[in-house]
Amino acid sequence: MIDAIEEVLISQDAIEKKVAELGQTLSQEYAGRKPLLVGILKGACPYFMDIIRHMPIPLEIDFMEVSSYGEATNSSGQIKIIKDITKDVKGRDILFVEDIIDTGQTLKELHALMLKRHAASVKTTALLNKQDRRIVDFQADYVGFEIPNAFVVGYGMDFNEQYRNLPYIGVLKPKCYQ
Ligand code: IMP
Ligand code: MG
Repeated sequence: MIDAIEEVLISQDAIEKKVAELGQTLSQEYAGRKPLLVGILKGACPYFMDIIRHMPIPLEIDFMEVSSYGEATNSSGQIKIIKDITKDVKGRDILFVEDIIDTGQTLKELHALMLKRHAASVKTTALLNKQDRRIVDFQADYVGFEIPNAFVVGYGMDFNEQYRNLPYIGVLKPKCYQ
C-alpha cells in the first residue's frame, strides 16, 4: 500500500470477483441484442476493459469523455462533452460503463442525451455508487459496490490525474487533498 492511501476499501481480488459476476449478469441481459457499451473516459477504463472480457456476446464499444470535476474533489455541476461517441445510437441498446456515480449529474445528462438521439434503451453499470452524495434523481442499473461518502482512488479513479493505476480501490488520506 502506498503512503497516500488511508485504507484499502476494495481489494484487487474483490474487484475481480465482482466484475466477473456483473459481466455474467450483463451477458444474460444483453444476449442477442448487440449492445453498444459506452465507456466514460478516463476513470472507467480499467472497469471497462475488464468487464468486456467477461461478456462473451456480440457487442460494440465506444467512448465519451466528459468533465465535471476539474481538479477538485467536488463537482462543478457543469457537464461538458470533451469527446463524443462516433456511432449512430438510433435504435441501439446503450450501456454506459462508469467508474462511480457520485452526485448523479453526469449520467443523468448522458442518459437524456442518448434518448434524445433515439436510442432504443439506455442503462448504466457503475462499479461504485455513493448514494449519500446524490443531488439529482438518478440510479445506475447494475452496481458493483455501495460505498460510503469518502473520496476514493485507484482502479481508474484519480485525484488530480494521479493514482489511476492502483490495482485496488483505496481511500485517499485527507492530507493529500487539503
Ligand atoms: P457525478 O456526476 O457527480 O456522479 O460524477 C461522477 C464522476 O465524478 C465520476 O465519473 C468520477 O470521475 C468522479 N468522482 C466522483 N467521486 C469520486 C471519487 O471518490 N474519486 C474519484 N473520482 C470521483
Ligand atoms: Mg469518471
